[in-house]
Amino acid sequence: MRDPAAFHRDAIAHLRAEIPGRAIVAASGGIDSTAAALLAQEALGERSRALFVDTGLLRLHEAERVQGFFAASHLDVEVLPAADRFLGVLAGVADPEEKRRRIGEAFIRLFETEAERFGADSLIQGTIAPDWIESGGALRDTIKTHHNVGGLPKDLKLKIVEPLRDLYKDEVRALSTYLHIPSPERQPFPGPGLAVRITGPVTAERVAIVRKANAVVEEEVERRIADGSIARPWQYFAVLLPVRTVGVQGDNRVHGEAVSVRIVESSDAMTATAMGVPMTLLRTIAERITRELSGKVTRVLYDVTDKPPATIEWE
Ligand code: XMP
Repeated sequence: MRDPAAFHRDAIAHLRAEIPGRAIVAASGGIDSTAAALLAQEALGERSRALFVDTGLLRLHEAERVQGFFAASHLDVEVLPAADRFLGVLAGVADPEEKRRRIGEAFIRLFETEAERFGADSLIQGTIAPDWIESGGALRDTIKTHHNVGGLPKDLKLKIVEPLRDLYKDEVRALSTYLHIPSPERQPFPGPGLAVRITGPVTAERVAIVRKANAVVEEEVERRIADGSIARPWQYFAVLLPVRTVGVQGDNRVHGEAVSVRIVESSDAMTATAMGVPMTLLRTIAERITRELSGKVTRVLYDVTDKPPATIEWE
């Protein structure tokens, strides 16, 4: 990229030229959409309204954390609670691409409704180059449909504006430093959220299980990062498997679920290596998950597969 100051100046001019009326901005809490929303806020002022959707598929305390991040970035964002709607559209759906499609569509319908209320005819998104490249853009076949690109319905009523669509991740980082967005020290988290960390159908109960298991993985890995015993992985999370497995609880036999722990090293998510972590870390994670989700999760596995042949997410 040319220097961030020049990009910033041009982006503001483009947004003003492209959007004579009002726009809403889809803010996910990641740096891409935060940067896009800040550009919109500066370019359009009161004519722009940034929205963060609480899908009910977020990690533990994520909505609060994200709101703190927006405040630190000096971005005004409205939170839309929509857990029931997302669980509703996902009912009975097990296919990963169908989950992404339905989530994408639910996002868009929600944004259409909000746009109408605000009198906006444009939707600004933080899509960057690797998003559309991985979604079957010019260069690659569809690997996974990222919700913010592939899920757009054909009858979309809003004009989509993507100020960062030609930027790569390192260029967005340079821009976000220039815009004084604090570094979130956040691992990437997929737009469809915990829905793609639950293999098989998504239910409120299964979301609660994977959310708790994931919080344990995050806490224990972060503890080891803080005490210097492991390097910061690229991503670390829990996945709920579609397997029932037998365990013992006191004198009783329980038929619970299985959780897979994934901890990977990567530099750009295009390839990844399963991280060789201390066995004590894995034992602590397994012990805590089976205790804190007693009777619900009876087995914890560690995923040692690299990407390729696997992907980082299970779905
Ligand atoms: P995979 O699983 O394809 O993931 O190796 C590569 C990176 O992309 C993230 N990911 C997604 N991000 N919407 C997103 O916004 C999605 O549908 C999605 N699927 C995967 C994944 O967490 C990893 O960082």
